[in-house]
Amino acid sequence: MNIAIIGYGIVGSGVSEIIRENAQCIEHKACEQITVKKILDIRDFTDSPDSSLFTKNPEEIFCDPEISVVVETIGGIGVAYEYTKRALGAKKHVVTSNKELVATHGPELIELAAANQVSYLFEASVGGGIPIIHSLNQCLAANRISGVTGILNGTTNYILTQMQREGRDFNDALEGAQRKGYAESNPSDDIEGIDACRKISILSSIAYNEFVDCTDVYTEGISKISPVDIQYAEAMHSTIKLIAISKREGNRVFARVSPAIISMNHPLANVNDVFNAIVVKGDAVGETMFYGKGAGKLPTASAVVGDVVDIAKNKGSCRSLWDRKGYNNILPVGDSKTRYFVRVSIRNSVEAVKCVERIFDSIEFVKPGANELAGEIAFTTSKQSEQQLSGWVKELNESAPVKGIINIIRIEEE
Ligand code: HSE
Repeated sequence: MNIAIIGYGIVGSGVSEIIRENAQCIEHKACEQITVKKILDIRDFTDSPDSSLFTKNPEEIFCDPEISVVVETIGGIGVAYEYTKRALGAKKHVVTSNKELVATHGPELIELAAANQVSYLFEASVGGGIPIIHSLNQCLAANRISGVTGILNGTTNYILTQMQREGRDFNDALEGAQRKGYAESNPSDDIEGIDACRKISILSSIAYNEFVDCTDVYTEGISKISPVDIQYAEAMHSTIKLIAISKREGNRVFARVSPAIISMNHPLANVNDVFNAIVVKGDAVGETMFYGKGAGKLPTASAVVGDVVDIAKNKGSCRSLWDRKGYNNILPVGDSKTRYFVRVSIRNSVEAVKCVERIFDSIEFVKPGANELAGEIAFTTSKQSEQQLSGWVKELNESAPVKGIINIIRIEEE
């Protein structure tokens, strides 16, 4: 089976490398040889072992009847979107790691694939090398999925781990993630939770069999998390992670991405560095957990090649990963209930404590170590709706002994 790779960046070059290095075991699994026939990229790669395969002319791929699968590893939603439509329209299967494209135009591309009797597969778009999409779509197909919770972004998990373990500052840790090829070309997609939001939207669409639009999902990143917040979390025998969560609630879906304090007993607490993990709850299977490297050249390419092998083994079939177009199916985040950790900058400690005790219900004060930090107090709340919390926080913020709110972090317990 001949394939073409469009976009020879970190993942695209990894796909070619795996197909070359592991040719024998891939042929054994696919029951035929997989050959990279062409690679499209606007750049020159004269020193690459694939140099003889390059073209700058997409027609050489779309018009070649011998190429049956196109691997799209360009990324983004510009050229990648146009070329994916061209490839599907030319009745070529498309395999991708492009979560932005799947989360944005997934329904249209899945429909286009079905109309052309080919598949649009995107295992590599979530969790890097972790086989989560196939597992949700096939291995767990017997279940009504009630919830998906995960650490879905390698860059932010790497940054938080480095801040916690090595005491590195945020920018230094981000540079490390960029050097290792984990970060997006625009790293604010990682840091502000946008990448994790696209991924939880894709997983939720598959889990609940209807499209979950990432633009409807409440999203908050880790840029406001400081080393002091991490010290507080440690004092609570907890850690801070960027958590993506979704739950089926009646006919609607609750979804959110935000930093969260999780107890060291939580299944995701020890998922560190570039690793991702996803906990899936199904009515028959109970709780399952998937773990592996969530970013990087070869882990992501491993998932892409897995989809290529899947197509080779299931020739003639076309798979759809979700059926229904979701519409207005996301619950408002204001209705969701969580416990919160609140840090407050104060003028007068005794008076500020009285204000907190008067305004909030069932709070517990927290110190980041043996002593309180000068000029601030911190506390945890009972489980409250976001709406209720913002009312109380507004009142606290307007109280005379309080200078301002330093940070509010959700406490995720399940
Ligand atoms: N920037 C992404 C991450 C790459 O850090 O997880 C993998 O999708």
